[in-house]
Amino acid sequence: MFTPHFSSAAMFDRKGLMPVVNADRADKLGNPIRHPAAKAPRIFADSATRSEIEPLFRANIINGITTNPSLLKKAGAKSWDQAKGIMKDLCTLLRPHPVSLELTELVEEDMVRQASELSELGDNSVIKVPIGGYRAVNAGADPFTGIKVIRRLWERGIKVNTTLIFNTTQALWAANAGATYVSPFLGRLADYGYKQDKPERKPGNSLYWVEDHKNTKGDQALHNSEYVASGGALKDAGARLIFEIATVFANYQITTEILAASFRNQVQLTECLLAGADILTVPASILATVADHPLSDEGMKAFAEDAKAFGK
Ligand code: G3P
Repeated sequence: MFTPHFSSAAMFDRKGLMPVVNADRADKLGNPIRHPAAKAPRIFADSATRSEIEPLFRANIINGITTNPSLLKKAGAKSWDQAKGIMKDLCTLLRPHPVSLELTELVEEDMVRQASELSELGDNSVIKVPIGGYRAVNAGADPFTGIKVIRRLWERGIKVNTTLIFNTTQALWAANAGATYVSPFLGRLADYGYKQDKPERKPGNSLYWVEDHKNTKGDQALHNSEYVASGGALKDAGARLIFEIATVFANYQITTEILAASFRNQVQLTECLLAGADILTVPASILATVADHPLSDEGMKAFAEDAKAFGK
């Protein structure tokens, strides 16, 4: 379980710069009770499936959505027109709350053009731009494609959610380019840790700074056996990354919002809240259980039973 040793004063200062997210119609109508969690972290659904999203939205569990090509495929899209139809429907459903729509083009000019096309699906759309990985798809690609596109979209007044973030420098460069959100994928880091970690290696730097040691000379020893010995790295590498980004963003008063993504379980939700994430985007299957606890079940059964004593 990730437990930060401190929350800096800079973190609290930064929160002061962030938007109020829980002022609703009741506040505007003169509700005498000020909303107690006005700047609470927002919770988004990481889904493109309307039947999952709608009940969560109606229950005020979420006030945003993140989608990606995999989630659109899962939602049934079999053509670009169908994918756009789903994205437009979700923008309409959530309006005015943000809906992240991911670019599928991989070349700068095509990406900027596609961003304009997706922006027209709703004035609450946010364009998702991968930070890197372009050369993994096309060896000749410009490694700075994502950063250039983020900058150009910022210049055009288009909000960007930078996706596939796995270290703090990626997050910083996305922010410097003008991104409104960065999405660190903490679950995939944990997956990587479970699969790749070698506890017998010497302590090194940080597990979440993923490097491929294949064919490298010598022992780079980037796997941190101290964390592995305590079980920490396997569980909380992603949360430690969120804390690192939150600290750096606070140090420099960067207002790009940290949108923690790729959750695998409830514990990671708590860890990211402790670490200072601004937004959590969570699969519907995890959100479905947020009100549950075995002791809540037990307590409710007892209350319901005892209420029978006075006819209720
Ligand atoms: O929002 C990003 C998210 O969809 C990635 O999640 O579960 O594919 O690692 P996952």
